Amino acid sequence: MPAHRYPESHVFYRKLTRDFPLVVRGEGAWLVGADGRRWLDGAGGAFVANLGHGLREIGEAMAEQAARIAYVNGTAFTSEPVEALAAELAALLPAPLDKLYFLSSGSEAVEAALKLARQYWVETGRPEKHAVVALTPAYHGNTLLALSASAREHYQTYWREWLVDVHRIPAPYPYRCACGGDPSAACPACDGTGLEAALDRIGADRVAAFIAEPVGGSSTGHSVPRPGYWRTVREICDRRGVLWIADEVLVGAGRTGTWSALEPYGAVPDVLVMGKGISGGYAPLSAVAASRRLLDPIARGSGALLHAQTFSHHPVLAAAGLAAVRRLRRHGLVERCRVLGGRLHERLQALRELPCVGDVRGRGLLAGVELVADRGTRAPFPRARKLAEAVADEALAAGLVVWPNAGQAAGGDGDLVCLAPPFVVREEELDLLVERLAGAIGRCCERLRAG
Ligand SMILES: Cc1ncc(COP(=O)(O)O)c(C=O)c1O
Repeated sequence: MPAHRYPESHVFYRKLTRDFPLVVRGEGAWLVGADGRRWLDGAGGAFVANLGHGLREIGEAMAEQAARIAYVNGTAFTSEPVEALAAELAALLPAPLDKLYFLSSGSEAVEAALKLARQYWVETGRPEKHAVVALTPAYHGNTLLALSASAREHYQTYWREWLVDVHRIPAPYPYRCACGGDPSAACPACDGTGLEAALDRIGADRVAAFIAEPVGGSSTGHSVPRPGYWRTVREICDRRGVLWIADEVLVGAGRTGTWSALEPYGAVPDVLVMGKGISGGYAPLSAVAASRRLLDPIARGSGALLHAQTFSHHPVLAAAGLAAVRRLRRHGLVERCRVLGGRLHERLQALRELPCVGDVRGRGLLAGVELVADRGTRAPFPRARKLAEAVADEALAAGLVVWPNAGQAAGGDGDLVCLAPPFVVREEELDLLVERLAGAIGRCCERLRAG
């Protein structure tokens, strides 16, 4: 007899034996279940639902496009929404990132960006430049090249033989850094100079690209690098002839209170990747932005990026992205995200009163709460206790969706709770979010300590 039970369904669920609540609609920052239950979406699903739920306007734009022309192949035709979305994004992104390649998922876009970097070097006569440098902890997606660039040790158990070697340097993660988070300390991980030492070690002439998230994603619980970090990275990449790919799949499209998370840093990458919130979750849409300088040798050489996918440059997905980006602009939602983000972070400081909250950080409507067994030593709970997952379940039962993450501390321990409410969230909903989260963390930690 199997020791498990499947839910009564033919769906192959992401968690095989879990009973998933049936969601039938959404309104703003709320999800509504078939049985009338309501959940405050404190995570935008997975950092996706930036515009809020239940907007007819985005669905109508998609329906109108599908009725006109649903699909053409990107090798033969272009379409109005693809042209218009590329123009909108080119205007929002820093110069010279004004050429856009559209795909569906963040993983696909990361794969395409890495291939673009590699192809650039092959077509400029430098085929020896193939190595990739990435941060740890970091996450860049689940297809095999993107997963190779991700520092997710538990995936290595299953896919080790299929993954390519990616060089890793410590992420700017002050809370767990040897420098203790002192912003004035000379610290290669936190000030960006660690990249140069890594390039010396590997040999910069072998390195194609450095890929990193401008503000930490879920794997560092949204650690924010020092103000000079990305300018230092830019200088090193220029000096050593390495392309810099900024993965803004999670932190871009306004989530940190600026359209690009890099804006406050005054540094421009060679390639910028977007996904998740770019369509507010109304369609699976991602994009790779690059400059003409990068594309010129390929245009002169082979003539095409070798990352052909049937659904690239999809008119209906682009229509969703166009409607989403225009709505963000029309309603000033990125600015709203910045202002309400400040309020969220003010309110979250109250969590520091809880004995197992070690740190609260982030930017805009993006926040991470790090849970620890000992606040003095920052020692995490053992992973086997699954505290982050317990808090997420407890919060869900209390009507709040949060995103759990784990394994960011030494030895694969560590518990994080991540927050990313829609930009339309109201102040009183932020109060409720913090109240429900505090209750969930408090109850779980008490249970853990008691038993
Ligand atoms: C920073 C980052 N890059 C890439 C991805 C992969 O995106 P997707 O899950 O849409 O393939 C994610 C997903 O969480 C992400 O957070």
